[in-house]
Amino acid sequence: MSVDDLITPIFVREGIASPVEIPSLPGVYQHTVGSAAEFCKQLADLGIPGTIIFGVPETKDETGSEAWNPKGIVQVAISAIKSAVGDGLVVMADLCLDEYLSSGHCGVLNSFGNVDNDATLELYAKVAIAQANAGVDLVGPSGMMDGQVGAIRSALDGVGYDNVGIMAYSAKYASALYGPFRDAVDVRIADGGNRSTYQQDYHNAKEALSEILADIDQGADIVMVKPAMTYLDIVSLADRNVTVPVAAYHVSGEYAMIKAAAANGWIDGDAVAVEQLTAIKRAGASMILTYFAPFISKLLG
Ligand code: PBG
Repeated sequence: MSVDDLITPIFVREGIASPVEIPSLPGVYQHTVGSAAEFCKQLADLGIPGTIIFGVPETKDETGSEAWNPKGIVQVAISAIKSAVGDGLVVMADLCLDEYLSSGHCGVLNSFGNVDNDATLELYAKVAIAQANAGVDLVGPSGMMDGQVGAIRSALDGVGYDNVGIMAYSAKYASALYGPFRDAVDVRIADGGNRSTYQQDYHNAKEALSEILADIDQGADIVMVKPAMTYLDIVSLADRNVTVPVAAYHVSGEYAMIKAAAANGWIDGDAVAVEQLTAIKRAGASMILTYFAPFISKLLG
């Protein structure tokens, strides 16, 4: 495992004057556009090859319209980061609506209050084009709507962005490990709801492979398994069955558990992080999204 394998997630928040540390993700910040660009320069200097941007907008609504606003926080951040780092860092953007919708769901709701898969695809297409207009290298659809990769691929190709890639969150489980992330992006799912109608059931291994193969068929350039440590069997299954690169997301809860135990002096946090990330690589991931990237890159060389 080396620094070449790591991708750093970053949070950019609209309407703040200076970076705000996320209490449940110690050492990780909600950035301003300026501090995000500065941080990305540091990532490039550390030899980290890529970042994935998450936005925290000031306002949410019923369609998630800030997600495709040309002046929306992610679009502004993409262009600021690209001008700061040039080709020194691969810039990806998470593509979802949960941060932008009042319901906190990953897709828009129909009149029965259920997530409307196909209406959401049309909005994802608009977000993809807005992110591409801002200069993103790859989009990362994470909402787990059926057909999302195909809808985004044809929307991008339709306006000439055939060079913008797709890193698909393909096998993404309805996991309890995303808690700190939802603090970071200020998302609460309405009425105590959950994402079990669109994210995968963690009892089920076989569905992962059909989701992964469907995404590749629809044009995914990279497929992702998420979370990572509890799903190493799925990472390995993916690696043995596909020819595109497999990514794994060591998620917020996985980071927070290590940090909390280390803060109590119960484990050596950096050593556990390196051990876990190495296991993820061993299982077959050729890229790992991890909040640890800037902290452990010096240990890896
Ligand atoms: C959805 C999204 C989530 C994460 C990445 N993209 C949250 C969710 O599905 O509820 C979680 C990442 C993490 O926990 O680190 N936009």
